[in-house]
Amino acid sequence: MTTTARVAICPGEGKEFNMAEVTLDDLREDELLVRVVATDICHTDMAVRDQQLPTPLPAVLGHEGAGIVEAVGSKVSAAGVGDRVIMSFNSCGHCPSCEVDAPTYCYEFGPNNFAGRRPDGSATITRDGEEIGGNFFGQSSFATHAIAHERNVVRVPDSAADLPLERLAPLGCGLMTGAGAVLRSMEVREGLPIAVFGTGTVGLAAVMAAKIAGADPIIAVDMHESRLELAKELGATHTVKAGDDAMDRLKEAAPDGLAYAFDTTGVKKVIESVFEQIAPKGILGLVGASPPEDMLKLNEASLMGGGKRVIGILGGDSDIAGFICELIAYHQDGKFPFDRLIEYFDFDDINAGIEASESGEVVKPVLRISPE
Ligand SMILES: NC(=O)c1ccc[n+]([C@@H]2O[C@H](COP(=O)([O-])OP(=O)(O)OC[C@H]3O[C@@H](n4cnc5c(N)ncnc54)[C@H](O)[C@@H]3O)[C@@H](O)[C@H]2O)c1
Ligand SMILES: [Zn+2]
Ligand SMILES: [Zn+2]
Repeated sequence: MTTTARVAICPGEGKEFNMAEVTLDDLREDELLVRVVATDICHTDMAVRDQQLPTPLPAVLGHEGAGIVEAVGSKVSAAGVGDRVIMSFNSCGHCPSCEVDAPTYCYEFGPNNFAGRRPDGSATITRDGEEIGGNFFGQSSFATHAIAHERNVVRVPDSAADLPLERLAPLGCGLMTGAGAVLRSMEVREGLPIAVFGTGTVGLAAVMAAKIAGADPIIAVDMHESRLELAKELGATHTVKAGDDAMDRLKEAAPDGLAYAFDTTGVKKVIESVFEQIAPKGILGLVGASPPEDMLKLNEASLMGGGKRVIGILGGDSDIAGFICELIAYHQDGKFPFDRLIEYFDFDDINAGIEASESGEVVKPVLRISPE
């Protein structure tokens, strides 16, 4: 049975997103139809719009959706009809990374998340009979309805029945990434210094997680004063305004060097400068989307001599379901107050949400798509 959905299409060529009616394909045996309640705008959607990431346009983007399952394929066991779910990254389930529960490093990450089609090349979305890009992060949730997959839906635990889906939606990407980078990828140790570059959703999630881990000091760096203020309220012990003297300020706050640095800016100059301040055995974790042609220049002797590590991080090494449920529990304990980052927009105001995110005015714009 095909489904009609109202979606926001990213047309490319610098044009605004526009609303349209499309048809979703029949469900495959491992797919679910989700009525989307809310979905968020993330910097990664903008990176596709600007074609820093290779998803072909026009396409339906959106990759931080939450909603209610309306139908399931015959082999789906992750959730059933009527269940409340959060959607996240998709993965193949059988590569060496998936085998060890590291699905964000799936060998088939691209075909499952960025290709605009299913990995077998079939389209999930058509408009007036013509194929357009879909299956973005296995969901394409800037839409009233989305086709999701057995491996990228997380059933909201019954213990979180009182939390609205419109609040839980961002857990599947930026929040999971920032918190996971600290708690899983870098395994930040109590009492050691961390600097977080960029205090958007990913950076602020890292700041909250650094506080959970007991890092000290926790230094947040950004150019937006309002975001630095929020970083302080969420756990940063020091804030540094980005600029020429930022590295000197870091040295004052952590004179023995940084045990951990986490870059969410993707700015080559920032990454190369902070590398110089990494302490012995320290870790520099990178998540920010950067221009595809950028090449880092790091001093080899310093890398080797200090036993330093520079690591790429995807999805915060989350196993998806387990970690998202862990984050919900931290939230319920008051240790992960990510609702402070959220502002709500109507689905039709998607372009206003994007503008508010890009100006720095709103950290996490969440689109309200249908009532729960
Ligand atoms: N690797 C992953 O798994 C993953 C997951 C989610 C997002 N991302 C990427 O992570 C990045 C951050 O995402 P976000 O949603 O937090 O984005 P965001 O745009 O909300 O936040 C980025 C922040 O960096 C700040 N910034 C920019 N240049 C800076 C500089 N030179 N010094 C200090 N701060 C600077 C900005 O002011 C902004 O506050 C994006 O590039 C996004 O595409 C990666
Ligand atoms: Zn995202
Ligand atoms: Zn895989």
